[in-house]
Amino acid sequence: MAQRLRLGVNIDHVATLRNARGGALPDPVRAAVMAQAAGADGITAHLREDRRHIRDGDIEAIMAAITLPLNFEMAATAEMQEIALAHRPHAACIVPERREERTTEGGLEVAGNANWMGEYIAPLRDAGCRVSLFIAADPAQIAAAAHIGAPVIELHTGAYCDLHAEGDFAACDAELTRLIAGAKQAADLGLEVHMGHGLSYDNVAPIAAIPEVVELNIGHFLIGEAVFVGLDAAIAKMRALMDAARG
Ligand code: PXP
Repeated sequence: MAQRLRLGVNIDHVATLRNARGGALPDPVRAAVMAQAAGADGITAHLREDRRHIRDGDIEAIMAAITLPLNFEMAATAEMQEIALAHRPHAACIVPERREERTTEGGLEVAGNANWMGEYIAPLRDAGCRVSLFIAADPAQIAAAAHIGAPVIELHTGAYCDLHAEGDFAACDAELTRLIAGAKQAADLGLEVHMGHGLSYDNVAPIAAIPEVVELNIGHFLIGEAVFVGLDAAIAKMRALMDAARG
């Protein structure tokens, strides 16, 4: 039987809802604590440059409230590097970020910036953070991630999920094939493989079944589903679907 998959729960969109009214509720720290109690294996939070959801103070509060590892998502900027070094989360997942995007749309360009990126991640790695690079399942990007010494990659599943939602199953299968090949390439290079973006009950099984994948990071769908069934029930069902796909 394949290794048990870890589920990282991204709580950004509890903060999105909070910020819609500008106050303190709903509290993303409470969501992190609930996710932990419901069986999450990690908590993910993305401090964006524009602070549209997670705010600076949330990071410290989340880390103080949970015993699970925090996966801190961050753009490759000097400001975010300083914040990550101040908090030293378990993991630092470097993502591309554009102000005008609604969510993280593509993967990082590592291959074309290998020297710069290698220098950028070195202090994070030296500080004990497990550096993860959020990239497309592109052989050149995966090879570059290994080359610069990142221990982990997270492959972007957004295109696969979009094609699945559109019902374009031929293109969706082609994207899945790319993700499967990318996971194998990465594992052969000694990288730990995570995946995430856009995952839901409907599309998670083929991704969870990829044997090299050790962690899925899921946010928007789980927080949306929690409105109807509660966060613990949403996490429990996702966990069950992941385990069934793996078994
Ligand atoms: N992984 C990474 C690197 C992300 O940037 C995001 C979105 O913040 C996710 C996973 C989770 O995506 P979603 O909210 O669509 O589940």
